[in-house]
Amino acid sequence: MPVIQWNQNLSVGVPEIDKQHQRLIKLINDLHEAMLSGKGNDASLNIVRELIAYTKTHFNYEIGQLELVKYPDLINHKAAHAALIKKVEEFAEKVQKGQPGVAVQLSTFLGDWLKTHIMGTDRKYMPFLAQKVAK
Ligand SMILES: [Fe+2]
Ligand SMILES: [Fe+2]
Repeated sequence: MPVIQWNQNLSVGVPEIDKQHQRLIKLINDLHEAMLSGKGNDASLNIVRELIAYTKTHFNYEIGQLELVKYPDLINHKAAHAALIKKVEEFAEKVQKGQPGVAVQLSTFLGDWLKTHIMGTDRKYMPFLAQKVAK
């Protein structure tokens, strides 16, 4: 069972950003899978590293787009991203130390976080980016 599944409610109306969110969802589910199938810590750690790297890539892209449209709530959005990165890096350290069960906690946490963030925070910028596309 995937931790999180893509559906239309998660669309922010910008195809490139939807694509990036879908890739994040896939990485979260891969991490979950890897842990549940007992692939062990090394496999999980590789996915965690890829997840952190791709999350940063996505956040940079998203913030870049929001800067272009002078999104008014940029500071709070950036703060939410920064808090997430900090938290995931703390998790990654625990995975690295081999603490059992941490990767599963991380995938569940990330699945919940991403869903909440996309629906509650990302979707607030929809009208601003939609305007940009329309111009
Ligand atoms: Fe975001
Ligand atoms: Fe996002």
